[in-house]
Amino acid sequence: MAHRGHNVTCVDIDEKKITMMQQGISPIYEQDLEELMYINEEKLGYTTDYKSVYKNADAIFIGVGTPEQPDGSANLSYIATVARQIAETVEKDCLVVVKSTVPVGTNDKVEQFIQDFLVNDVNVQVASNPEFLAQGTAVRDTLEAARIIIGTNSIKAENTLMAIYEPFGLPIVSVSRRSAEMIKYAANDFLALKISYMNDIANLCELVGADIEDVARGMGFDSRIGSKFLNAGIGYGGSCFPKDTKALDYLATLHGYELRTVKAAIDVNNDQKILLYKKACQRLITFNGLKVAVLGLTFKSGTDDLREAPSLDNVPLLLAQGADIYAYDPIGSENFRRRFPETSSEREVEYSKGSIHYVRSAEAALDGANVCFIFTEWGEIKAVMPEDYNRLMRTPLVYDGRNIYDVNEMRESGVEYYSIGRK
Ligand code: UDX
Repeated sequence: MAHRGHNVTCVDIDEKKITMMQQGISPIYEQDLEELMYINEEKLGYTTDYKSVYKNADAIFIGVGTPEQPDGSANLSYIATVARQIAETVEKDCLVVVKSTVPVGTNDKVEQFIQDFLVNDVNVQVASNPEFLAQGTAVRDTLEAARIIIGTNSIKAENTLMAIYEPFGLPIVSVSRRSAEMIKYAANDFLALKISYMNDIANLCELVGADIEDVARGMGFDSRIGSKFLNAGIGYGGSCFPKDTKALDYLATLHGYELRTVKAAIDVNNDQKILLYKKACQRLITFNGLKVAVLGLTFKSGTDDLREAPSLDNVPLLLAQGADIYAYDPIGSENFRRRFPETSSEREVEYSKGSIHYVRSAEAALDGANVCFIFTEWGEIKAVMPEDYNRLMRTPLVYDGRNIYDVNEMRESGVEYYSIGRK
């Protein structure tokens, strides 16, 4: 927003985050973000004092989390907290823009909620403006977005959002608030479905002797299908697909409808995440006392985010089996270590069996290992050559959840190699 000429103040309740950002440090790992913060320093402010900011704002974008609740529904309590703070502090007409992913109908409720708590005699309208950026490519996805969706129920709100996005020079799709809210879920769930479909087909490919990489390539040339998001693998993770599929399924159930396609995507993904672990269990008598190399901990490359990462499903299973894990991730190890500490003094609860160590290179993880699991497609992991597995591991047995290697090259290098959807 600042890069496109607006004056922006970022508000958060987390003082640590705000202090870091005031010093030009991004609290998350995201390519090009710090540089953008630096270039636009003069148009950017950071504060925990929301009152001073809300009272004079022309527009307030809400981007707080809507985490999944145990029943699959979205937790809207953070949205409600912010909406109430806005209602109690605004001193001039303003537009509240909901960027957080919220169930259809939430914008209507937010508007009513703000009306109910409004202190001053001002006009506050609410608009929906869902976010489509992916982690790791957030800056590019924002500045070069395929489209901007705005959902409004008044000309005034539509004009304000149009004016805010005009300097971006991107296609704008203007619809009703409910349609905008639905576009976000429908788009995310479609992508999740696409991945689960490819994973389903990949599993069948293995059984019938086809190769999913060739199949995907052949499919991708058809522009009706498109070549993106056809990568079979260890299942989708992250902060969006797992949560948004469950939230839409919940919304459908609430309205007495069964969303069978999305349900199927969720089912396939749950199984896919531990597919390689199950395969390894069939191949090995036990993991007890084995040195297991885990390459990649984050849910995808380019981020330090662990949310719903396949590693979180697999590492506890391996530990419970007594594995001696040596984990490597170029960026995500510190976050992972907080959940799975290395030494007993850091642990609140002892692992019943097994142990975990964090190392600084893929080679160090592989050194003397009996088996290797690849969970993330980091460049640093792709740089490991097939012959390195044979040279470094005690027994070169590799389970690759990202289809990084050519099957024949691995075989020729003497590696026993299992991947997704390929013999
Ligand atoms: C996603 C959407 O892409 C984005 O538009 C939305 O705003 C938020 O959710 P993100 O979760 O950051 O973004 O990452 P994405 O690149 O979409 O990957 C999600 C998961 O799917 C990852 O675990 C990734 O490894 C997996 N994936 C992706 C596949 O398994 N195969 C693919 O072909 C693509």
